[in-house]
Amino acid sequence: MPETARAKITALGAYVPPRVLTNQDLEKIVETTDQWILERTGIRERHVADKGIAASDLAVEAVKNLVKSHPMDLQEIDLIVVGTVTPDMMYPSTACLVQHKLGIHHTWGFDVSAGCSGFLYALNVGTEFIESGRYRKVLVIGSDVNTSMVNYEDRAVCIIFGDGAGAVLLEPANEGDDNVIVDHVAQVEGAGGAFLYMPGGGSLNPASPETVAKKMHYIHQDGQQVFKYAVKKMAEMTERVLERNQLTGADVDCFIAHQANKRIITATADRLKMPMEKVIINIDRYGNTTAGTIPLAMQSAVEEGKLKPGDTVLLAAVGAGFTSGATLLRWGF
Ligand code: UT7
Repeated sequence: MPETARAKITALGAYVPPRVLTNQDLEKIVETTDQWILERTGIRERHVADKGIAASDLAVEAVKNLVKSHPMDLQEIDLIVVGTVTPDMMYPSTACLVQHKLGIHHTWGFDVSAGCSGFLYALNVGTEFIESGRYRKVLVIGSDVNTSMVNYEDRAVCIIFGDGAGAVLLEPANEGDDNVIVDHVAQVEGAGGAFLYMPGGGSLNPASPETVAKKMHYIHQDGQQVFKYAVKKMAEMTERVLERNQLTGADVDCFIAHQANKRIITATADRLKMPMEKVIINIDRYGNTTAGTIPLAMQSAVEEGKLKPGDTVLLAAVGAGFTSGATLLRWGF
């Protein structure tokens, strides 16, 4: 058996499609206002993929951006893990499509379906593979085109979502290097499935004229239920991972949460007594990009000088499922 190792993030790339949909644009589509959206969610605008652009396309662009900032031979990639709930199609997996589009040979991969926790869960999986000692270069991607599932007549849903993707490279840390993925906690509670789901197109309700007529191919969300659960659970998961590592919010240099609603993020930061300058918020520019939010927020944090080598970073997400999780790491580059 190979020796076990700690995993470390060694590179980052992110991507959003160029087309921007502002709150003012949405005012022309549904009965809403820029003020309502901004006050209730913190969103000003979001990027939307054009027809024909799918999750694998955004993922590929995010990986290309990763390579631009961290030149490497993609042929060395051992494993590709993609967090997504908007795969290009039911199968093959998005990971297979990404592998093919990037021309990476001698690798394997699969998708992780965890709603808005998709990137965090994919990161957990990638970390375990590195820690097994068998794998040395793992691409962890979060990519979603949730606007393709949005009913632009449902004003409580269509204002939230944007499209985007991000990718990190995981590698084994060198001996003595403590800028590693330190710990993670995660939990699913399937009873919450009824509050955020897409009922059509799966094996229960295969696509048919009837499922389309009943709008079953769109996102169905009870926003208030999701909101209440997210506030409670994000606090619980972040406190759990901090406590078991004998840390408090005061020890965290950078808090990067899933960007679903600014009020969920600030409620968690308040509970952890974290000043807002340590909290990364870019939901105003991107909206909720599902599995894309955390790597996109990492990218914003790096660009804004809020994420530096050695920083203690807390990641957190809550999503459809319900899924939730929190990850503690020290930034390495
Ligand atoms: O990433 C995980 C996925 N999703 C989430 O995390 C979403 C969590 N939930 C939320 O972010 C919020 O619940 C929403 C942003 C979706 C909705 O905000 P809210 O403050 O919970 O609004 P609400 O659903 O309680 O609706 C309040 C009012 C209602 O009107 P009445 O019944 O009080 O007259 C809605 O019809 O606001 C109305 N409303 C809107 N008004 C203007 C709902 N959507 C809109 C809108 N513009 N876009």
